[in-house]
Amino acid sequence: MTVQTIATTPIADQKPGTSGLRKKTRVFMQPAYLQNYVQAIFDGIGGVAGKTLVIGGDGRYYNDSAIGIILRMAAANGVARCIVGQHGLLSTPAASHLIRKRCADGGLILSASHNPGGVDADFGLKYNGPNGGPATEAVTAQIFARTLDIASYRILGAEPGSLADLGESRLGEMAVEIVDPVADYAMLMEELFDFDAISGLFNGGFRMCFDAMHAVTGPYAREILEHRLGAPAGTVINGIPSPDFGGGHPDPNPVWAKTLMDIMHGPNAPDFGAASDGDGDRNMIVGAHCYVSPSDSLALLTDLAHLAPGYSGGLAGVARSMPTSSAADRVAEAKGIAHFETPTGWKFFGNLLDAGKVTICGEESAGTGSDHVREKDGLWAVLLWLNILAATGKSVAQLMAEHWERYGRNYYSRHDYESVDITVANALIDNLRTRLKRLPGQVFAGVTISGADEFSYDDPVDGSISTGQGIRIYFEGGGRAVFRLSGTGTEGATLRVYLERLETDPVALAQDPQVALASIIAAADTVAEIANRTGRTTPDVIT
Ligand code: G1P
Ligand code: ZN
Repeated sequence: MTVQTIATTPIADQKPGTSGLRKKTRVFMQPAYLQNYVQAIFDGIGGVAGKTLVIGGDGRYYNDSAIGIILRMAAANGVARCIVGQHGLLSTPAASHLIRKRCADGGLILSASHNPGGVDADFGLKYNGPNGGPATEAVTAQIFARTLDIASYRILGAEPGSLADLGESRLGEMAVEIVDPVADYAMLMEELFDFDAISGLFNGGFRMCFDAMHAVTGPYAREILEHRLGAPAGTVINGIPSPDFGGGHPDPNPVWAKTLMDIMHGPNAPDFGAASDGDGDRNMIVGAHCYVSPSDSLALLTDLAHLAPGYSGGLAGVARSMPTSSAADRVAEAKGIAHFETPTGWKFFGNLLDAGKVTICGEESAGTGSDHVREKDGLWAVLLWLNILAATGKSVAQLMAEHWERYGRNYYSRHDYESVDITVANALIDNLRTRLKRLPGQVFAGVTISGADEFSYDDPVDGSISTGQGIRIYFEGGGRAVFRLSGTGTEGATLRVYLERLETDPVALAQDPQVALASIIAAADTVAEIANRTGRTTPDVIT
């Protein structure tokens, strides 16, 4: 079998974003596009000869073909072994777990997460390191640098065998091991949670609806919820992964998971609802007539995780991304454990987890996870909730009401303006940046600004500094607005505006967040001149 060395030239747009490289699928399918990036990863991490890699994706369009190319390139670059999910499937947390469990040198995860899939939608690829977590900023920079001076890539002139057949085969000198994508992950969940107690819930008539959104979590949820925990068949809906996610947008939030929201707010609503995204690392939690914001979910899990066996010894600390509400901080303070604020993106949690400084992490974008893997983990969050519901015997609504009574409620919302002209979006952020020092004391839409800055993170573990991580504006009375541009979009710019206000008055804890935040929303829109600069008067997505 011949190793071919193919001459190539650098492609300018291969800079990884918040989570790996994401582009339109047709961009990835261009000649040499995927090949250049894969070779840049291999070279950027110092070569892959003799190494073991885990490979899998969320099953979106181009998943199988891309894995075929990656396997041929891995063999040609001297990789000793590739561990691949059957049918090319691995959820992001399951991939992270496999890397750790098998002591692999890293992994390649094919996903554009919650972005739609299909030949005219999105595709993505990211490299995770030996700790199972997303490549750090330093490694990402090395990979990007390599994309800019690449001159050739290596590929084997032979096709790999079928991804459907479990077991081991050879591709050139390399071992290809096709594994059940669910088994190891399900075993890990059984170690962390009280499956008997959760089974007891279902035996007692507790009803749940899990919307897998036609994405990768379907097989995981069916095995764990329906087979191992005894939830009735049909608990998991949209459970078969499809290359275009059933034509939907696999993002578990009230806008895109509307089917589930309608069920949970309809007559005879189940006790518990949940959804996960394209690659299975995000979660949405909803009780009967009660949506739980991801920031609140993080706070509640921080408070009550000790009820699950895997966390019975308490938590070392909690970390949240900066735009996430500060609800979890107050729980940490009450418990006397550490809390950290990091830039957006899971890669910033890795060092804190590896150093044992935190046990649980979360982001407002529906990501929650713990030190069991080095990625956020949708089903893990769902199972921790189920464990807490089983241990307390309380409903989701009851748990949230009690939480807010004790800690106050951080009303929270994110407003997204999508496909904004990139120049306009950059100018909006630049304009805010240049005005930061002058803003305190100024009044916008009747609200006075008390402080303003741009978030910069000093990693307490490795000392690295990440600047330019979002503009923060604080308002008198305790409100906050954060402005940043998405690093995962594939079309124009997405402006994200994060809005938050703490309410401690016991009679004001049950408002609609958009109403409770109305003054902050108006002040944020005015100070950033959103309507004037973008021509948009309402956000495209409100979560
Ligand atoms: C978004 C989320 C962020 C998350 C990332 C990957 O990134 O906001 O919290 O880590 O997706 O799932 P963004 O598009 O905002 O850069
Ligand atoms: Zn995801």
